[in-house]
Amino acid sequence: MNHVWLDSEGDNWYERNKHHLGKAQAQDFPLLMMDLYGLKPKSVLEIGASNGWRLGAIHQKYGADTTAVEPSKKAVEDGRKKFPSVKFIHSTLEDCPLSGTFDLIIVNFVLHWIERDALYQCIGKIDRLVKDQGNLIIGDFGPDCFLKRKYHHLKDANMHTWKMAYEQLFLQSGGYMELAKLRYNDDTHTMGPDVNADNGCTVVLLKKQQMYLDH
Ligand SMILES: C[S@@+](CC[C@H](N)C(=O)[O-])C[C@H]1O[C@@H](n2cnc3c(N)ncnc32)[C@H](O)[C@@H]1O
Repeated sequence: MNHVWLDSEGDNWYERNKHHLGKAQAQDFPLLMMDLYGLKPKSVLEIGASNGWRLGAIHQKYGADTTAVEPSKKAVEDGRKKFPSVKFIHSTLEDCPLSGTFDLIIVNFVLHWIERDALYQCIGKIDRLVKDQGNLIIGDFGPDCFLKRKYHHLKDANMHTWKMAYEQLFLQSGGYMELAKLRYNDDTHTMGPDVNADNGCTVVLLKKQQMYLDH
């Protein structure tokens, strides 16, 4: 198991990004999607939630019970102080001991960092944690092909980012339907077709529902 996110890189990401986390909530695509599609979840899990700023906003707006899984110790410490309504689990998705189910799970810009030998374990775990008829929001890079890039923040480590359309892993199982998809440019944060393989991102809203024809 790769523990680099627990050991160092979770904190490093948090230190690099903490000053602007949650500052542009009005432009946050997962929150916009919840609003646009009228989601009213009673329980929400965010995987890779950093300091839980998004869950704090969700609790305030919808009164939902909120749970965060996050490997950065610093982000969790900060989040426990700033967002006391959020329950934090200091862990990676791979190792977290969660059970039960949630009305909504959000996984925003995390799956491209999951090592490929743990990917299916993680997808299965997310699937088990989504309530039947519940929702899953996946935000990530969304290239038209599979892209493997060297992880540039740790030049000497043999680490990569893996860009692909992660929603397809759920849709192709026949256990989810796609309700909505937003496409945007990560550099300009504008929606629309002006994207290339590296800056193109998607946020997808799925509903957990059997899509098999049963006869
Ligand atoms: C790009 S940040 C996104 C943070 C947050 N989801 C957001 O949208 O603002 C990715 C987060 O995922 C966390 N992360 C990385 N690998 C993870 C793993 N295997 N399991 C859970 N979280 C992970 C990182 O520590 C970091 O906080």
